[in-house]
Amino acid sequence: MGTTIGIGLLGLGTVGSGVAKILLSPQGRHPLVSEVHLARVAVRDLNRPRDVSIPTKLLTKDPKEVVDDPSVDVVVEVMGGIEPARTLIMRAIKAGKSVVTANKAVIARHGEEIATAANASGVYVLIEAAVGGGIPIIEPLKQSLGGNRIKRVSGIINGTTNYILSRMSKEGAKYKEVLNEAQDLGYAEADPAADVEGLDAADKIAILSGLAFGGSIDRTKIPTIGINNLQSIDVQYAKQLGYEVKLLATAEKLIQNNERLDSIPLALSVQPTLVPKDHPLAGVNGVNNAILVEGEPIGKVMFYGPGAGAGPTASAVVADILNIAGVNQLETSTTCLDPLLSANSWRNCHLVDRNVMIQRNYLRLNVVDSPGVIGRIGSLFGDRKVSIQSIVQFDASQEGAEIVVITHKVSLGQMNDSLEAIKHLKEVAGIASHLGCL
Ligand code: NAP
Ligand code: HSE
Repeated sequence: MGTTIGIGLLGLGTVGSGVAKILLSPQGRHPLVSEVHLARVAVRDLNRPRDVSIPTKLLTKDPKEVVDDPSVDVVVEVMGGIEPARTLIMRAIKAGKSVVTANKAVIARHGEEIATAANASGVYVLIEAAVGGGIPIIEPLKQSLGGNRIKRVSGIINGTTNYILSRMSKEGAKYKEVLNEAQDLGYAEADPAADVEGLDAADKIAILSGLAFGGSIDRTKIPTIGINNLQSIDVQYAKQLGYEVKLLATAEKLIQNNERLDSIPLALSVQPTLVPKDHPLAGVNGVNNAILVEGEPIGKVMFYGPGAGAGPTASAVVADILNIAGVNQLETSTTCLDPLLSANSWRNCHLVDRNVMIQRNYLRLNVVDSPGVIGRIGSLFGDRKVSIQSIVQFDASQEGAEIVVITHKVSLGQMNDSLEAIKHLKEVAGIASHLGCL
C-alpha cells in the first residue's frame, strides 16, 4: 500500500455518500481518517445529482474498474444486492484487497465463502455496518465479548419496520404512508419488501448468530414473519394490554452445558412480538435498533442506537476502514491476520424445528358472542397443556366479538395443535392474528 490508503467506493447512494462526506472532511476526527483517501467511485448513473461533490475523474460506471485500479487498496462495497456485489467482493479478495461492506444480504448468504477466500488471501472483510446501522455490535461480538459463553442474542434490528411500528403505535399512522417516509429518509432497502417481510432482519440475525455461536446456519431456514400482514388493531390491543409490538429477531443456543455435541442446536426466528412496556426493548422507537446479548459471565448487555440512515451507517463503515488502516500501520505480514478481526467459524451449528421453539403467544380470535365461548376456548387450551395468562373480550356486537388470548410459554408445536382445534370450534369464525410475546 502507498503512504495513504486508497479507498475504492462501490456505490454513492445513501451510505456511500455518507462515507464520502466523512473521508472528505477529516478535520476533528481520528488522525487515521487523514491516512485514507477516496481513490475511485463506481455509480450506476454518472449524471445523477449527488449531495457530495466528487471529482468527475474519480467516477466510473464500471465497478470492476474500481476493484482493479492499482490506486485502490481497500474496496468498500455499498451498492447492495447479491450480484454483482458478491462477485466484486470475491474479485477484490483475489486481488489481495481488504473489503468493507454494509451488505448483509450478501454476507448472510455467502459469508462463509467470502470469509474462507479472505483468510486464504490474507485480507480482511469487515461488516460492522451490516447489522444495527451505527451501533457497534459486530466488533463487540468478535472481540469485547469473546470471554463469554453467549446464550442468546435478540433485538430490534430493522430500522424501517421499527420506524413504522413506532408511528403506528404512537399516532395510529397508516402503514403505507409511514413506509413511504422511511424510504424518503433513506432507511429502507432498494426493495422495501426486504424490510417489511422480515428478510433484512433474518439476514442480520443470521450474521449475529454466526458471530455469537461460532458457526453459520442455513439462512433460508430461519422462520421469518414480517410486519406486512400486521394489522393496526393488534398494535392498539397490545397497547391496551400493556405491550408494544416490535419486529423481534432472536437467536438462542438451546443447549447450555454440553459443548461436546457435533453440532450446536440453535433456535432463530424473526416475528412481530408483543414486548411488555417495562422491558428495555419496548422503549426503542423510531429508526433506533437495540440488540440484547445474554452471556455467561456478563449477564445481559444491550447495544442501542440509530439502526439505519446515511450518517450512522457511514460511521460504522468508516470504523472498519480505520481498523484496516490501523492494522496496515503495524506492517505485519499479509498472511498473518488478527484472529479477532477476521471472521472464522469454529464449530458446527444447526437450526431446530420451529415446533420445538418455546414462546409466549398473542392470539386474536373472531368469535360469535355467545355464553360459554371463553370457557370452551380455555378448556381446549387446557387439554393441550397450554396455560393462559390472560383472555379478554373486545368489541362485542351482534356481528360477533374479538377475543385476545395471551399464553404462558409453550412450544410452537403445542400452540399450533391448539390453534388447529380452535379453528374447528363452531363459535370461532377465524384466527385473526398470532404473534409472539416476550
Ligand atoms: P442506495 O442508496 O440504493 O445506493 C446504492 C448505490 O450503488 C448507488 O449509488 C448506485 O448508483 C450504486 N450502484 C448500484 N448498483 C450498481 C452497479 N451495478 N454499478 C455501479 N453502481 C451501482 O443504497 P444504500 O441505502 O446506500 O445501501 C447500500 C448498501 O448498504 C446495501 O447493501 C444496504 O443493505 C446497506 N445498508 C444500508 C443502510 C441504510 O440505512 N440505507 C444501512 C445499513 C446497510 P446510482 O446512485 O447511480 O444509482
Ligand atoms: N433497511 C435497513 C433497515 C437498513 O431499515 O434497518 C439498515 O440495515
